[in-house]
Amino acid sequence: PRSGQPVEFDASAGMWNVYGYPELHEVLMDPATFSSNTMRVVPKEMLPKEGFSLEGFITQLDPPEHGKLRKLVSSAFTRKVVADLEPRIAALTHELLDEARDRGRFELVTDLAYPLPVIVIAELLGVPSSDRALFKKWADALFQRDAKPTLERRAEDLDAVMKPWREMSDYLADHAAERKLRPRADLLTRLVEAEVDGERLPDDQVVNFAIILLLAGHITTTMLLGNTVLCLDAFPDQQDKARADRSTIPDVIEESLRFLTPFAAVGRATTREVELGGVTIPADQVVMGWLAVANRDPRQFPNPDVFDPGRDPNPHVGFGRGIHFCLGAPLARLEGRVALNILLDRLNPLRTNPDDPAELMPTPTMTGVRRLPL
Ligand code: HEM
Repeated sequence: PRSGQPVEFDASAGMWNVYGYPELHEVLMDPATFSSNTMRVVPKEMLPKEGFSLEGFITQLDPPEHGKLRKLVSSAFTRKVVADLEPRIAALTHELLDEARDRGRFELVTDLAYPLPVIVIAELLGVPSSDRALFKKWADALFQRDAKPTLERRAEDLDAVMKPWREMSDYLADHAAERKLRPRADLLTRLVEAEVDGERLPDDQVVNFAIILLLAGHITTTMLLGNTVLCLDAFPDQQDKARADRSTIPDVIEESLRFLTPFAAVGRATTREVELGGVTIPADQVVMGWLAVANRDPRQFPNPDVFDPGRDPNPHVGFGRGIHFCLGAPLARLEGRVALNILLDRLNPLRTNPDDPAELMPTPTMTGVRRLPL
């Protein structure tokens, strides 16, 4: 925060930043005032000429449409489906580490943190994990652009993402259509067949959800793994504790999500004038809710800049809060726990390479490394 205030207007970006924990809580718990449909406040002339819209995506929907869609996709993407993946995640982690050992070098992102979640989500959906060079190309085009999009740059920005976006939609639509003809034991088939109160997911919603899983499902988990290793490198006493008592690993993962929050900010748009943290935000304004900053709010977390997995409770907002709370949290937590356990088994100590420092992600809304030699 530039002003030290929990809520402030950023004139250069034309949007409001919410940094304080209680203020962010208000935003996330009031979707009627803080709508997830941020496209509604982007001026029409800022949108690309060809029809491109995020409208209809679960992350952009408000009640009551959001609840209906969330119920449907949750019926296919259940906790049981996720929990059953544990042995496969462990086997994949060992395989990837074996390959790195045979090559004689270990760079956490390329060798483990990136491929692991991508392979897991691809196998879960039922698309060939051998296509992962394609997924990476799309994800990079969509996420790894630098700087904060100002309103002026927004149209240009959107144009740059349309091509990969369309390629990805077509790819997933082909796979979904194939599952309608020949059902398989995979998540795409379960999405195609999902039914709640006699209603099914329209074809475009199956594709939209698969896109979200493929994107949200791997970039963020990659960052979680890298960040957790950075934390245990910077706080070696905590590494010793985690190594000695593996039952504390879930707490290490939660504290990592608080301390280095991968998905640093979420966007909302005001539907009316509203008072927040002592300021008045007019209607139809873009609001950035900084999860990463709220997670260091000393009013909520004593000694916020200390990495302490012993915090109890640890009500971080790393997975968001309220109706849009991360649907993939159980999978991210499972991947984090399994991979960290195996890393601690196989690397002692788990330490970054002082001669070959980490490279950070270039995007300010993403907290993570894109290269982490160990
Ligand atoms: C939503 C973070 C992993 C799927 C969210 C939100 C956050 C988040 C902050 C809320 C967005 C908002 O309120 O606007 C993370 C982090 C992850 C992670 C930090 C890893 C460490 C995953 C995984 C999946 C996933 C592995 C799926 C495989 C989703 C979906 C939503 C979501 C579908 C939208 C839920 C809704 O709008 O109702 N995630 N996520 N995420 N996440 Fe995750």
